[in-house]
Amino acid sequence: MEKILVHSYKGGTGKTTVAVNIAFLLSLKNRVLLIENDFMMPSFFDIFDREPNAYFNDYLNESVNFDSIIEHAVKPNLDVVFTNNKFDPNEKVMSSDQEWFLSILKQMIADFNALEKNYDYIIFDTPPGWHLIVVNLIALSNKAILLLRPDSYEVNGTKIMLEILYKRAKPISSWEVYVLFNQVPEVEMNVDLENWAGELQKEGMKYVGSISCSCNIAYEMAHKTKIFPMEHEFSKALQRAMNIFLRTD
Ligand SMILES: Nc1ncnc2c1ncn2[C@@H]1O[C@H](COP(=O)(O)OP(=O)(O)O)[C@@H](O)[C@H]1O
Ligand SMILES: [Mg+2]
Repeated sequence: MEKILVHSYKGGTGKTTVAVNIAFLLSLKNRVLLIENDFMMPSFFDIFDREPNAYFNDYLNESVNFDSIIEHAVKPNLDVVFTNNKFDPNEKVMSSDQEWFLSILKQMIADFNALEKNYDYIIFDTPPGWHLIVVNLIALSNKAILLLRPDSYEVNGTKIMLEILYKRAKPISSWEVYVLFNQVPEVEMNVDLENWAGELQKEGMKYVGSISCSCNIAYEMAHKTKIFPMEHEFSKALQRAMNIFLRTD
């Protein structure tokens, strides 16, 4: 089973769109569990149009077991865990310190190991930048896809995040961290992308390509198409990147 973290330094880079579409493309041939982790800005309730009885928040707050938060067969071969879109500042996941997050990690590792026989892939959608849940998810994952728009402060922010968050949470040699540019303007930017990719590769990340910024994509998403069919331009670009980080070619 592969456990893949989809993360970025900045918000709005396309994490949720990419995580949901990776999960959908993989579910065409594999058993997939997709887990939402953006407690401040949940979006799965809208994308999948469901209101579950229990959320990832409830599991992390130690009030329910993992099995009871899984929404089965949201799409064929695709199970989903939602976060609660009704903000509660008092719940532990909103208000706890590093010690509490570390204290729940052991249980999380045990529960995710128990899923080994049920799924081929687990995909984690995340909040941007530094959040203590990301430390736990780094510990659980064997791959990360870091998204970034082609902008120097996103490149430099990603390098800093790798240094102070990723490399401290887990030695980079013990897992794989990939970078994927998204929302790349449809003008010639190959030299910029190659230079930035080179800088990121020096830090130990692997470059897997880019997805164009497309007004069609933005238009379709505005009209509630959040999951694209296989032949869509977004899916094709994403599949090319997936072929590299999953080596399924
Ligand atoms: N390749 C793209 N072209 C055009 N718009 C995109 C592209 N990727 C993402 N978007 C848009 O960017 C916005 C943020 O995407 P989202 O997946 O919610 O990001 P995040 O989860 O990182 O905050 C959405 O409105 C989405 O439609
Ligand atoms: Mg998101």
